[in-house]
Amino acid sequence: MYEDRIRCDSLRNKITSAADAALAIKDGMRVGASGFTRAGDAKAVTLALAERARHADKPLRITLMTGASLGHDVDRMLTEAHVLARRLPFQVDKTLRDAINRGEVMFVDQHLSETVEMLRANQLGKLDVAIIEAVAITESGGIVPTTSVGNSASFAILADKVIVEINLAQPLALEGLHDIWIPGRRPNRDPLPLVHARDRIGTPAIEIPADKIAAIVITDKPDSPSTVLPADTETNLIAGHLIEFFQHEVAHGRMPRRLPPLQAGIGTIANAVLAGFVDAPFDAFEIYSEVLQDSTFDLLDAGKVTFASGASITLSAARQAQVFGELERYRSRLVLRPQEVSNHPEVIRRLGLIALNTALEFDIYGNVNSTHVGGTHMMNGIGGSGDFARNASCAIFATKSTAKGGRVSSVVPMVPHCDHNEHDVDVVVTEQGLADLRGLAPRERATLIIQNCVHPQYRELLRDYYRDALRAGGQTPHRLEEAFAWHARLRDTGSMLPAAQAAA
Ligand code: COA
Repeated sequence: MYEDRIRCDSLRNKITSAADAALAIKDGMRVGASGFTRAGDAKAVTLALAERARHADKPLRITLMTGASLGHDVDRMLTEAHVLARRLPFQVDKTLRDAINRGEVMFVDQHLSETVEMLRANQLGKLDVAIIEAVAITESGGIVPTTSVGNSASFAILADKVIVEINLAQPLALEGLHDIWIPGRRPNRDPLPLVHARDRIGTPAIEIPADKIAAIVITDKPDSPSTVLPADTETNLIAGHLIEFFQHEVAHGRMPRRLPPLQAGIGTIANAVLAGFVDAPFDAFEIYSEVLQDSTFDLLDAGKVTFASGASITLSAARQAQVFGELERYRSRLVLRPQEVSNHPEVIRRLGLIALNTALEFDIYGNVNSTHVGGTHMMNGIGGSGDFARNASCAIFATKSTAKGGRVSSVVPMVPHCDHNEHDVDVVVTEQGLADLRGLAPRERATLIIQNCVHPQYRELLRDYYRDALRAGGQTPHRLEEAFAWHARLRDTGSMLPAAQAAA
């Protein structure tokens, strides 16, 4: 049975049900599960654990670490069953988000490159169990991941026990796409030997001793499709501003016609901007990113991208069927890596990436809030945006200029939570326009951002704020009493606009 999927003879007797495999997970344990932006998530044992907890008469609460977000409502089911005591490093689930914001789940919002680095250094405690989705187990017990690598390799290496979910719905043709490379111990670590986006530096499977595999579960659920919305007028305008900016950079010799490798964050805006490159006048370039979305494959198909390196492939249902049905067409142009390699500061700096990520809001000086709505309530987490922004050759943050039907301005006097500070942000862009902040002092940045990026409804209000702030003086002038007045007004009235303007 499953000879092509479980090629290590001694492991075939480890096949068991998801419910039995989940019995290895006990109250208080730390568990590492595969999964990165809905791709390659462990979707059987985690759900069996939620089911067990629902009927348990004693608490069953764990720390759950993943690569990034999960599909199949795994986070919702685990939250509803009160399994999650602690969760890291990223999530996008509404039920879990609400539990985090009620203080019921302790969420550790981390740079995605850092989780396994901290685990390896024993800074997060010992990992008890790893649950890894795989297309196959090799003759020597190597685990071949499915549509994401994420943190799976280090979880499998560092955990006491490993449970493998062999997913028959994931094509065996995925084998060979992965490049597993794990850094050595610090402080005597060698340089990371990746010098081109397309380099392969590791092995095609996660190599662990076969006897660490405690159980194998056979599953057949495809990945949850991506939830990216189609491009709209505003995202198209943002894409247009960015393409014009890149053309300007090329014209002035600051970027080659073959653009540096590109990283693009999750979500609709990043996907729309990438899609806009299909018709843009640049030579074919490379993608060195985390998540490979539909737009990556549009660009590969159009010959605009020659190679794409990521930590996961997350696609719409239609694209899943097409891409995984004809993987041979893409094989030589794709690689999936551990997220500590895809997001590694050393590589990002060496390759001189262009990094494009999305903000919730930014302020007049270019500080960016990507995570905390109103400064207090967690949205998703910082994800990989900080890994990329700090080390990229050009760090760009995009957002629509307003949210919630115009009741929220995404450009504010001062961000009430800062994920990316002024030192890490090169360019900000909304559908109104783009501000190139490189080489500008805070006062110059404020003038440019107010002029180019703010929605007309808020522009004069922000000018008034800045004019007042200038009277207080300083390198970065602020009226401290007023800096969060817009957020307080939103909390109290449901709009950042003053009452008279909101009513008009
Ligand atoms: N204040 C309050 N809410 C805001 C807001 C603001 N300034 N700006 C946007 N929102 C809300 C939107 O209204 C929307 O709410 P809804 O889900 O209730 O409709 C939600 O935030 C998402 O906004 P949207 O404009 O659809 O953008 P998005 O889907 O691209 O997500 C982030 C934007 C910032 C939430 C998302 O990109 C993210 O989580 N980023 C951090 C992680 C990251 O950058 N990873 C990249 C490396 S992988």
